[in-house]
Amino acid sequence: MQTVRSRPRADGPVIAAETLTREYPTEAGPVRALRGVSLAVKPGEFLCLQGPSGRGKSTLLSLLAGLDRPTRGRVAIAGNDLDGLDETGLALLRRRHVGFIFQSFNLIASMTALENVELPARFGPAPLRQVRARAKELLRLVGLADRLHHLPAQLPGGQRQRVAIARALINRPGLIIGDEPTGNLDSETGQKVLDLLDAIRRREGCALILATHDPRVAARADRVITLQDGRILREEVNR
Ligand SMILES: Nc1ncnc2c1ncn2[C@@H]1O[C@H](COP(=O)(O)OP(=O)(O)O)[C@@H](O)[C@H]1O
Ligand SMILES: [Mg+2]
Repeated sequence: MQTVRSRPRADGPVIAAETLTREYPTEAGPVRALRGVSLAVKPGEFLCLQGPSGRGKSTLLSLLAGLDRPTRGRVAIAGNDLDGLDETGLALLRRRHVGFIFQSFNLIASMTALENVELPARFGPAPLRQVRARAKELLRLVGLADRLHHLPAQLPGGQRQRVAIARALINRPGLIIGDEPTGNLDSETGQKVLDLLDAIRRREGCALILATHDPRVAARADRVITLQDGRILREEVNR
């Protein structure tokens, strides 16, 4: 029986990674996407991973979110070491503690905005009525109270990403991870989505880790980590 803590310990990091290495086997030999990255993120902290493409940002985020497993090293989410979990335990931990936002939104095309937001909570213990109320509240929070029954294809990109943000929040995670969440949006829409993410972080008290090559994201983060060749090249604290 695997136990999963429902809340991060108040004093501990929401997520901690220790000497993560990820090698992708290819015909030409292993690609070393990460070579020993360690980091920890405090509750409510905003961390930016920056650097141009190919630096290992997406690889690192996938490992942090438990969507992929490291070749070496370990990740602990809310004090739970991912190493000891099987796929079911990992899925449960992810659902409770991590909301993930993708560059390409990854909404289900055949589901309405409301259904998309409800989805991650549909397999949990809460009754549908309660899930629906929370989903509506979140869609209101992201400014889409009048778009509940629209399909993703009927919404512009910025609104699709707002739906994805509401979906990421449905299970009240302590951590939101975004992989280039503004990458498919025009500059102004991207700014608004960032404003929203930061406001939500403050309101809900969740930590935020965003990978980006947009310098404006780095400017608003508490801490900025620059990756190069799969390693931490630089770490800066913004104050
Ligand atoms: N599935 C994969 N198979 C082989 N190489 C990969 C795979 N995914 C990523 N890589 C390589 O790993 C390195 C880091 O990629 P990635 O994590 O996507 O960086 P970023 O998100 O910073 O662009 C790149 O050299 C990329 O080509
Ligand atoms: Mg990437």
